[in-house]
Amino acid sequence: MEVLERAGELPGILDRLRAGGHRVGFVPTMGALHDGHASLIERAAEECDHVSVCVYVNPLQFGPGEDYATYPRDLAADLVVAEKAGADLVVAPEVEEMAPAEACTVVRVTELGEILEGRARPGHLDGVATVVTKLLCLAGRCRAYFGEKDFQQLVVVRRLVADLSLPVEVVGCPTVRAVDGVALSSRNAALSGEEREAAPVLYRALRAGAASIVAGERDPAEVVELIGAVVEAEPLVELDYAAVVDPETLASPETLAGALRLLVAARVGGTRLVDNLGVRG
Ligand code: PAF
Repeated sequence: MEVLERAGELPGILDRLRAGGHRVGFVPTMGALHDGHASLIERAAEECDHVSVCVYVNPLQFGPGEDYATYPRDLAADLVVAEKAGADLVVAPEVEEMAPAEACTVVRVTELGEILEGRARPGHLDGVATVVTKLLCLAGRCRAYFGEKDFQQLVVVRRLVADLSLPVEVVGCPTVRAVDGVALSSRNAALSGEEREAAPVLYRALRAGAASIVAGERDPAEVVELIGAVVEAEPLVELDYAAVVDPETLASPETLAGALRLLVAARVGGTRLVDNLGVRG
């Protein structure tokens, strides 16, 4: 497996591979790779001839007071996970290359970036969109793999690829969960033992919401209230928001029919977790 420090080397390498007929897969990550990331790399390896993984903790997507400084970083461990999952190349660029001090261009996500996570974390999705646009421009024509765990991010990335006509096929991959239902996330490592025991409440709340829809509930407000009530029954967890949305537009439906996505965000101790679940009304 090849390891690069400069993302600027990607276009030359990937262009040569494409010229040789290789299908390129690209997996952008912020490192701290776990089985969820491994599943993206494995899927890319199944569907492509070459898989590049990016490991880069993007400062643009962290707000003031968020966990940029303490976000877990362990490149040596990431290289082991990436190679085992089937990566051919890992690029781990520096902030100086990806977000140089003189840079004055950002990608702003309008309506889709201002709701849900965008409201809770102003500027977060602009930061994601800016770095993802830069990375996808460097990667060029490829299939790019993103987890459904950050569902709004996936919708925003699909939108930006369409809006900016990038030659990229976005592949959304299912959330990988621990046996107790907790969605795998690099941030789970920050939970204390007690907090980790409380964390499955997010998935339990989503499942309760989905079950009520399957049982015939058609009022989105009732489902949102139910999800919130399940989360709030857990004393160590503070609800940020619960929502029922259209999975493509993230709009709130007036009545629950067809494909839907249930979303939840909550603070577990000092750690903010998000989760989501698909259901049909
Ligand atoms: O999901 C992530 O790890 C990040 O938001 C991403 C897409 C790599 C952009 O920094």
